[in-house]
Amino acid sequence: MRSIRYFVQPGGMLQGRLRVPGDKSISHRAIMLGALAEGVTTITGFLEGEDCLATLNAFRAMGVHIDGPEQGQVTVHGVGLHGLYAPSNPLDMGNSGTSMRLMSGILAGQAFDTVLTGDVSLSRRPMRRVTEPLTRMGARIEATESGTAPLRIYGGQRLSGIDYPLPVASAQVKSCLLLAGLYTDGVTCITEPAPIRDHTERMLEGFGYPVQREDKRTVAVKGGGRLTATAIDVPADLSSATFLLVAASIAPGSELLLEHVGVNPTRTGAIDILRLMGADIEVLNPRLAGGEPVADLRVRYAPLHGVRIPGELAPLAIDEFPALFIAAACAKGVTTLNGAAELRVKESDRIQVMADGLTALGIAAEPTPDGMIIQGGTFSGGMVEAHGDHRIAMSFAMAALRASGPVSIHDCANVNTSFPGFVSLTHNAGLRIAEQTP
Ligand code: S3P
Repeated sequence: MRSIRYFVQPGGMLQGRLRVPGDKSISHRAIMLGALAEGVTTITGFLEGEDCLATLNAFRAMGVHIDGPEQGQVTVHGVGLHGLYAPSNPLDMGNSGTSMRLMSGILAGQAFDTVLTGDVSLSRRPMRRVTEPLTRMGARIEATESGTAPLRIYGGQRLSGIDYPLPVASAQVKSCLLLAGLYTDGVTCITEPAPIRDHTERMLEGFGYPVQREDKRTVAVKGGGRLTATAIDVPADLSSATFLLVAASIAPGSELLLEHVGVNPTRTGAIDILRLMGADIEVLNPRLAGGEPVADLRVRYAPLHGVRIPGELAPLAIDEFPALFIAAACAKGVTTLNGAAELRVKESDRIQVMADGLTALGIAAEPTPDGMIIQGGTFSGGMVEAHGDHRIAMSFAMAALRASGPVSIHDCANVNTSFPGFVSLTHNAGLRIAEQTP
């Protein structure tokens, strides 16, 4: 892969009205359910990032006809739950944990064998969290000795529903099992240890598939139903918007209006945490788009102060911590996060990699097993390693707004997995960012 470096001059402010790219979680699910539905599903606002394209290409390789993406429009000619064909090659999930984990659930229910592969980062990430409960459902899956990809998934197995209390607060695991649940005899019932994103449940209902939500923590599906094609309007991704919420909050003079952002309450922890820190964020024109809450977000610069992040917000902001750590570094006082050990098994070890980068830029950051303690201070300029993690790269780009010298960030190519056009969009809004290919 091409090695890309960001070079960001210090200072500046962000202004304007922007729409960040489509929601990654919703885009993946729209392709998956569209492919397994009966009829033609139209998707607008689809995220044309490499992760969602990995999902799209996997279904093409299994015989699904898909038009696009073209400017966020995709048309999926669904083949029904039992209409996929065996792919002739292993399916490459690239850098995408969501693709690999959710696809495992779907593929466990097929009549044919498949192999799922991924890049170096994905091949290190834990997969037992899906292979173990899928095996309990009757699936046959082989992983490496350490429980990582490549995964060989044997078809033709008879799956049964299980009652499964999730040992980790993971929406990918929940979604994997719900998708496998479509192929079972009986009911698959999942209990969450804490609220986690519920896009799969909402979208299943949008495709006309009954989902029982017994109480706030339990969700169940019964196998043997069918999905009916629909139209999906993918909102802008709050996870991508968070880089801009943080940027405008830390750079004096900034004001941004972020349009049509998904504000599903299982995702809005970052807004809550920033507000606790003193951020000036308004949620305007709340509305529903295809079963998902959406709003416009106005954010203006405001001085931030350190906080102890409430434990219950950790799963609701799990992808946003790299950006939130930048906000914490610019805040007055100490910010403490606990209960977020999952950060260590994301695209990189986000606790260690963020602590290293913050330290390299002159901030006192102490990594802990499940979080971080950050003392607000002043960023020096310097060089940081993104370790191929898209969210690390984008977070440190924002740090330059408050740095005393230029910030150079290495290994940024994977920003294209979730936020294609990041450099031009942020540059046009006022970030002094340039991309370099050394
Ligand atoms: C996702 C769930 C989260 C999140 C990831 C997307 C999803 O992962 O970090 O970016 O679409 O279900 P976990 O389920 O592993 O927490």
